[in-house]
Amino acid sequence: MVKVNKYDFETLVNRKNTGSGKWDRMYGANPNIGDNIVPLSVADMEFRTAPGIVENLKKYLDESILGYTSPTDDYYNSVIRWMERRHGFSPKREWFVEVPGVIPALRHLVAVLTEPGDSVLITPPVYFPFSSVPVSQGRKVVESELVVRGNTYDIDFDDFEAKARREDVKLFILCSPHNPVGRVWEKWELEKICKICYENDVYIISDEIHFDLIMPGYRHTSIATLDDKYLDNCAICTAPSKTFNLAGMQAANIFIANRDVRERVTEVKGGGVNVLGIKACEFAYNHCEEWLEQVIQVIDGNRKYVESFIAKSIPQVKVFELQGTYLMWLDFNGLGMDYKELEVFLQNSAQLFLNQGYVFGNGGHGFVRMNIACPRWVIEDAMDRLLRHYPEDTQDCT
Ligand SMILES: Cc1ncc(COP(=O)(O)O)c(C=O)c1O
Repeated sequence: MVKVNKYDFETLVNRKNTGSGKWDRMYGANPNIGDNIVPLSVADMEFRTAPGIVENLKKYLDESILGYTSPTDDYYNSVIRWMERRHGFSPKREWFVEVPGVIPALRHLVAVLTEPGDSVLITPPVYFPFSSVPVSQGRKVVESELVVRGNTYDIDFDDFEAKARREDVKLFILCSPHNPVGRVWEKWELEKICKICYENDVYIISDEIHFDLIMPGYRHTSIATLDDKYLDNCAICTAPSKTFNLAGMQAANIFIANRDVRERVTEVKGGGVNVLGIKACEFAYNHCEEWLEQVIQVIDGNRKYVESFIAKSIPQVKVFELQGTYLMWLDFNGLGMDYKELEVFLQNSAQLFLNQGYVFGNGGHGFVRMNIACPRWVIEDAMDRLLRHYPEDTQDCT
């Protein structure tokens, strides 16, 4: 039983026919799926919205007019205070670029910082829009694949530096913390990345959207807090969307210290963020820190449950250390299936709707990403189905 005193992290809200991308995708793959099956894929949470957001939004709707509305000083101050309190970083007011999401920000930044034919450096396996966004704009992608170290991953710095030196590489998209492998990069690693990119005129987009979801014992370092000289060479992408499950509100804050880059992004981005997204962000940062502390405990409890269940019952599956995010990374290659067979087994037999690792590019085949931001009993059911449907002939091959 999860010991959480104040908020409800146990009740499941059924999202069938609500327009949830995660649930719709599951019913698309199997329209006859049982009512008790919950998808564990797309990165949003199966928890009710924090009361501090709901109550304040209701009050706001009762009292306000929803006309053309820009972010106010209260908004900027609540974001700045959050960054200071939680990340030791004081963004200047003029660095803000508000956008409806980090993906739109990636699109604008790629458009502004590179020309067709230029290359963008990424470190797969990584969140798939890091390659699809540049490619959709006629850019090329250069990969420096992460390397496995025990039950975590490292950057291969020799390879990374060699790629960053290439004339055609103009931009690096950093995932910090890293989706899907769950790494929280250490300060020295980020310093090394910044140094290499700075020395080779490679601008950095630091996607820090998961920056508040850090497991006990780890610490996120924003690249905004490193040497000042690197600030001009990076855009820091943040949002309340992962932290407080507000993806549908479509509000993100990008910090761009470099004036030229900022002005060009502001020019191409067009409109701003809708007023309810702005207010939800403000209320979350002002009133919901305790909810965040508790949700991290719930996620960490789910992580421990998955780790010990798999170690005990299915040791052929390798579980990677979840340092940050709520997305666990599991290696199923020990089962001896190819990655397509694995997908069919998980979806059709075990009725597990996860993200298949191959969508995250090289290094992802035979892996899966499992979203554990849901009530514990949902995870217990999922693990139980996995064990029950586990192919007989692989059960005793360790
Ligand atoms: C690393 C990363 N960046 C960006 C996004 C999506 O951002 P947004 O919904 O703000 O466009 C996600 C969503 O899963 C993500 O994991």
